[in-house]
Amino acid sequence: MKFTLPLLTVAGLGLSTTVSALPSFAGKSFDEVARGLDLNSDRPEIKAFVKRAEEIRNGGPIYPRAQRGDRDITALINPATFKFNDEEQSIDLTSDEHKFIAPGPNDIRGPCPGLNLLANHGYLDRSGVTTLTQGIDAINKVFGVGPDLALALNAYAVIFNGNILDGTWSIGGPYKSKSLGSLTNLLFGDPAGINAHNVYEGDASIVRQDLYDPASGGNNVDLHMPFYEELLADGGNNSQDGVDVFTPEVMLKHKSARWHYSVANNPRFFQSAFGGLVVTTAAERFVTEFAANNTADAEGYNRIYLDEKNLHAFFGIYKENGKLVYKRGQERLIPGWKRRPLASSFSLVDIALTLLAAARTDPSLLSFGGNTGTVNSFAGLDVGDLSGGVFNLAGLLKDPQELLCFLYQAGIEELVPTQLNVLYKSLGQVTSYLSDNLKAPWSKAANSGDNPCRPFDQNKKINILDAYKKFPGAKGVPGV
Ligand code: HEM
Repeated sequence: MKFTLPLLTVAGLGLSTTVSALPSFAGKSFDEVARGLDLNSDRPEIKAFVKRAEEIRNGGPIYPRAQRGDRDITALINPATFKFNDEEQSIDLTSDEHKFIAPGPNDIRGPCPGLNLLANHGYLDRSGVTTLTQGIDAINKVFGVGPDLALALNAYAVIFNGNILDGTWSIGGPYKSKSLGSLTNLLFGDPAGINAHNVYEGDASIVRQDLYDPASGGNNVDLHMPFYEELLADGGNNSQDGVDVFTPEVMLKHKSARWHYSVANNPRFFQSAFGGLVVTTAAERFVTEFAANNTADAEGYNRIYLDEKNLHAFFGIYKENGKLVYKRGQERLIPGWKRRPLASSFSLVDIALTLLAAARTDPSLLSFGGNTGTVNSFAGLDVGDLSGGVFNLAGLLKDPQELLCFLYQAGIEELVPTQLNVLYKSLGQVTSYLSDNLKAPWSKAANSGDNPCRPFDQNKKINILDAYKKFPGAKGVPGV
């Protein structure tokens, strides 16, 4: 998106101009916020995960039939098990501070509909440059993203798409660091923002094209209407209000089609361990969990549903003269929309189950690697080679704890420290920032229960970045 330099004034750590207050975290530095988040292993979602993992290892289903609610695939802490609480679940979308305002010419917007709409509603700075603390606060408060997942998503963005010195990052393209970030020049160049291909942004997205797909003209940020129409068709083109059309199953079906489309059309299709596998597969699930509206069922319990009307708003689609029109950067929530109860936050451990369910729907979705320069030439990287024989694919498919551990080792422990050399001039501060904010939530989740996460065999494993180098589409991955 061509929105340029934001009007951000960072007065100290993690503050912004147009969002006047950060209710939960006001007055705290980002380190305090990150350290103060509840990442402990006695959180209900971790306990539920450990129990479910045991059941799955013993041959049980990933998602047992839910005792309440309509959905077969449910979050570990199912919203439908809580009474609907109108006051707690209401989000201010109409006050001057939080009403929808379309971005101005200098505001940054990018490929993430969730972040774009948060900026359009003033929960992130309307300029599109936000901070770690504001990002955590916004996605937790507005969508019910669990604290560990909120921290992990934001910390990755600060480290790779922003600047650790002022804690800022951009929800789209590049920006200039301010305050501390500009005084001490720690980065090589300006922070790139989440648009940067193969860092966070990746291929086979839900409704965006691949950067190197010849048909995309290099546009991997704007919504591509044919993909969106396919999604509507997957939902049976059901435009009835209040119906749970875009369920996790429907979204997975769509994701599978998008993956195979990319393999068949993009000679340089590439899925990295983090940006590709985790982010794009998780994003599929984010739609059905977070864009969903919530209401009371006949007995007063939560009913979570995603109908076409709410999907259109979430993806910046407007109906004009009976036609669907996409307005770039104009994603929104409909006033009156209610989020899931905060007690049923969707967390990092839910991502492990999401990936496992994706793999059982279509095993391709759990592979990473890429096409080798021609279409339909996908070559997957081998889990055994990468881990030095510590893990194998069959084991990951049977055990969500093994899977989470593998993703943590491959996506964070193995890759991130070496990649920082490419972005940062000096590693001291970023290394401790990395441990506190990015490794901490992943490591807690990956080591949950009595199941310590096993490291890769350093003597036998192959180097992931070297393995990426054989894929022409891996360009952009830091260090490749
Ligand atoms: C700090 C938090 C977040 C970060 C850094 C982030 C980042 C990103 C990035 C880089 C992409 C592009 C991925 C791709 O190329 O496919 C993306 C896509 C997406 N994100 Fe986010 N995101 C965040 C939170 C959220 C939340 C809370 C939601 C839901 C409310 C969300 C929903 C989505 C969806 C649905 C897509 C796919 C868009 C498409 O393919 O059309 N994200 N996000």
